[in-house]
Amino acid sequence: MDITVIGTGYVGLVTGACIAEMGNTVYCVDTDPKKIENLKKGILPIYEPELDTLVTENHAADRLHFTTTLKDSIEHSNVFFIAVGTPPGEDGSADLQYVVEVARQIGSLITRPSVVINKSTVPVGTADLVQATISEQLKQRGLDLSFDVVSNPEFLKEGSAVNDFMHPDRIIVGTESENARQVMTELYAPFIRNRPRMMFMGVRDAEMTKYAANAMLATKISFMNEIAGLCERLDVDIEHVRLGIGSDQRIGYHFIYAGCGYGGSCFPKDVKALISIAHQNDYEPKLLQAVEDRNAVQKQSLYNKLMTHFDGELSGKTFAVWGLAFKPGTDDMREAPSVVLINSLINAGAKVKAYDPIAADSARREFPEQWFNEQKLTIVEGQYEAAIDADALVLVTEWKPFRRPDFKALKKLLNHPLIVDGRNQYDPVQIKREGFTYYGIGRMPINA
Ligand code: UDX
Repeated sequence: MDITVIGTGYVGLVTGACIAEMGNTVYCVDTDPKKIENLKKGILPIYEPELDTLVTENHAADRLHFTTTLKDSIEHSNVFFIAVGTPPGEDGSADLQYVVEVARQIGSLITRPSVVINKSTVPVGTADLVQATISEQLKQRGLDLSFDVVSNPEFLKEGSAVNDFMHPDRIIVGTESENARQVMTELYAPFIRNRPRMMFMGVRDAEMTKYAANAMLATKISFMNEIAGLCERLDVDIEHVRLGIGSDQRIGYHFIYAGCGYGGSCFPKDVKALISIAHQNDYEPKLLQAVEDRNAVQKQSLYNKLMTHFDGELSGKTFAVWGLAFKPGTDDMREAPSVVLINSLINAGAKVKAYDPIAADSARREFPEQWFNEQKLTIVEGQYEAAIDADALVLVTEWKPFRRPDFKALKKLLNHPLIVDGRNQYDPVQIKREGFTYYGIGRMPINA
């Protein structure tokens, strides 16, 4: 098959590379010329395990092409993936301008019956909008071409996106068309050879499935974070509660880790968008609003613990921060709890020395240059370097090298033996033995 993927962000690039790997010819289109030039040279805009090899090898094998114009791919392909961004607008609703513009271009260029597959996360009814936009263009061109619009949401996780695409739990396909059904079945057959994982449903059902999946996962996290707050007041350890409830198969162990809040490009955006969709439809999303509110509170929790410990006096202090990315395995800092913490600390007059295995460059783009120049914020090269003369260590992202640190070395480096653990990585018994003061999430503080 010859396929076009429009948008080379996480979803688009992973989709394009994985489909090319299965022997298809894929044209990846992006309006950003720098991005396209870099991709041709094997320079990727994102860090994602295995993706660089997949991109370079398939590009070299002439199966994966990069271009800035849809025109270049149109004569070869009649299957189009739309994978452009749907960023939140001011009211939290998904901004569909890029999706609509791509639909307009497709409608203005296609010359053969086509299948247009929407992979971007979009509100219910967007497939209809794409359909209408393409039809309008065809009408203007006086062409009577048949085409199908399919909703095929992506469930990839950053840090394991290639693996998720290659071994999907399920492939959701929203379509009413038999032709589109066949195309999608053929396209995904190599990924699900041993396990039939295609689920067909209506277009609107598929669009809602994506939002509901992310909102459910975000709800699990906010629920645990809410219980964690209560645990802190009742001398209960949320980690024991987590294991206790996770063993119930109806609940399960996944996504019930209390922490300093969820971040990333999906959960915050999609929960906000779903709230906005509800409001547009005169429906009060009480639970979703609570999920969002709890997460906002949660992202402030590390700062609040430091404020409590230091009696509101953070000015002039220095804090070591371990982990900047919104989760391990990625350099993505979008909506990361580290951003909320660092902003609060610096605004309170404190200094921050931060370390992250791969998100250093993202951090340099995230914060004002002035903070680096004035050494309010320093990004250091090693985890122990961050601790030198710091008044506390705050663990924000649970990268593996942070899990079993050399506590003795840490104690020597820090001004105070104080750890604030935003991901409950440490065993309170060991922490006590090592002589640290310790704050976790949903567990009682330990005083050295
Ligand atoms: C998520 C969905 O998992 C994926 O299916 C969807 O396609 C895109 O959004 P991703 O954003 O890559 O993927 O991150 P994920 O691994 O789901 O983690 C999201 C956030 O939740 C992270 O900040 C993580 O630290 C936090 N989290 C996760 C918790 O706080 N507790 C948990 O138990 C699990």
